[in-house]
Amino acid sequence: MRSWRKLVAVATAALTLTALGACSDTRDEGGSGGDGTADASDTLIGIAMPTRSLERWNNDGAHLEELLKNEGFQTSLQFADNKVDQQITQIQNMINEGADVLVIASIDGTALGPVLQTAADAGIKVLAYDRLINDTPNVDYYATFDNELVGTMQGQFIEDQLGLKDGKGPFNIELFAGSPDDNNARFFFKGAFDVLKPYLDSGKLVSPSGKVPASLDQWTQIGIQGWSSQTAQSEMENRLNSFYTDGKSVDVILSPNDSLALGIAQALDGAGYTVGDDWPLLTGQDADVANVRNILAGKQAMTVWKDTRTLGDQVAKMVTQIVNGEDVDVNDTKSYDNGVKVVPSFLLKPQVVVKDDVQSVLVDSGFIKASDVGL
Ligand code: BGC
Repeated sequence: MRSWRKLVAVATAALTLTALGACSDTRDEGGSGGDGTADASDTLIGIAMPTRSLERWNNDGAHLEELLKNEGFQTSLQFADNKVDQQITQIQNMINEGADVLVIASIDGTALGPVLQTAADAGIKVLAYDRLINDTPNVDYYATFDNELVGTMQGQFIEDQLGLKDGKGPFNIELFAGSPDDNNARFFFKGAFDVLKPYLDSGKLVSPSGKVPASLDQWTQIGIQGWSSQTAQSEMENRLNSFYTDGKSVDVILSPNDSLALGIAQALDGAGYTVGDDWPLLTGQDADVANVRNILAGKQAMTVWKDTRTLGDQVAKMVTQIVNGEDVDVNDTKSYDNGVKVVPSFLLKPQVVVKDDVQSVLVDSGFIKASDVGL
């Protein structure tokens, strides 16, 4: 199947003849055996991941590849160094190689329209992995964790720990958001901002830097491009140097994920904050090993853990259903509008992890090794 699929895919890409639409239909039938079951060993699944530089994507990619291989599929796993053009080239290569299904964790969710049109012309199904792909009709399914809930959990954690509901405060807070080109980042910020905004309005939370978006739509003003730890660190250093000069100290920092939290913790270290004395409450997401160490050391209060193995399991199941022409397992058909359509989604539940949960939740489940975090 692959070799002639490849020919069709290349021809489609090169000629972009509408007449080839008919070929796509034939090819779809070719994806299955005569009895409707797929010939797995002849089926290629392309997996496009954003970068190797973050622990989570390495784990996600490796786990998903292993699951799909266990199903008997051929796989092509690529990481794009957080460069949009590189990801587009990798996806185009997967199409040329005759991929049957593409699983894509996008870098810029708005940049894949043209290459996904080529995929659609070649009859290839597309599943958006963790991050939604926007502004194109050519994304068939989406599997992720409930992104807004991640932010809600961070906001509620801050609310609980500071006793805001009991009227405690005022506290000095600094807000950070994720990469402006990542569709998830807005959801994370929305979840947290909905919880925290009333306290910012009432003055129980005060932001000395003034870096508080006037409304949710302006969240990109505090976004950290590429989720970079270094950028987050220098942003935090700037805020501390400029707005905390008169003996003021920061009490709490909303960090949307662990890569930002790592940089922020470095800035706090550099500014002389000490655990057990004035170290502020710092949030995160992902349960990256370096951050779990920081949690154990008291430098990060929590992380929102997304067991990416369960996301891989779900995606492998959905891919298998797509290949077999079966109904695809989704549990949300209203939350994720990509600007062109609502993409049928499967949402998994994230979980808050604090110091006391590291052994029982992260280590005992095999997500991280005790020895990696000094336990
Ligand atoms: C993911 C997060 C991750 C971030 C940076 C987001 O799209 O959902 O888990 O921390 O990207 O890679």
